[in-house]
Amino acid sequence: MRKRVAILISGRGSNMRALIEAARASDYPGEIALVVSSRPDAGGLAIAKAMGVPTAVVDQSRFRRENRDRAAYDAELYQVLIDARIDFVCLAGFMRILSDGFVRQWEGRIINIHPSLLPAFPGLKPQAQALAAGVSIAGCTVHYVTPELDAGPTIAQMEVPVLPGDTVDALSARILEAEHKLYPAALKKALARS
Ligand code: GRF
Repeated sequence: MRKRVAILISGRGSNMRALIEAARASDYPGEIALVVSSRPDAGGLAIAKAMGVPTAVVDQSRFRRENRDRAAYDAELYQVLIDARIDFVCLAGFMRILSDGFVRQWEGRIINIHPSLLPAFPGLKPQAQALAAGVSIAGCTVHYVTPELDAGPTIAQMEVPVLPGDTVDALSARILEAEHKLYPAALKKALARS
């Protein structure tokens, strides 16, 4: 039985697209059953719809307006996933910190992609951090999500060279290309274990 996978996004959704494309193969162990966005204006939503994947929005600004906290947001997100009978969750540019309780509910069944070779450069702007540190090899990591940010066990990594004269944009684009190869392969690996 193919696992039902949800992808959580907040923005353009290029990793989401790579996952949807990979999961179209008949021998892929998961189907992308739902895309959930934290923002109604995320570019990825239109792409998911055009690719025939059901979408949902759990709008973070609505929670902010209503003075509802992170736990309330995560409870609604959890219900959306349960209603869609989701087995496995992929974060792909989902720009929210998930509460410990939510992460524990999905333990071993929630993964994230981060554009650095973790444990190097966790947190925001990892590509800029890599350039500032002067490393010659950068890359990306797919890892299990645990309560500590960008610190869960690694599933797979891909190295990318830093080239002379690289800007943050140039390096980010090179890493993003690697992300699109790494994420589908890493999800496959994680699904086989789950
Ligand atoms: C990617 O660089 C990903 O590693 C990071 O956020 C970015 C999302 O890009 N977590 P996209 O929305 O998948 O195009």
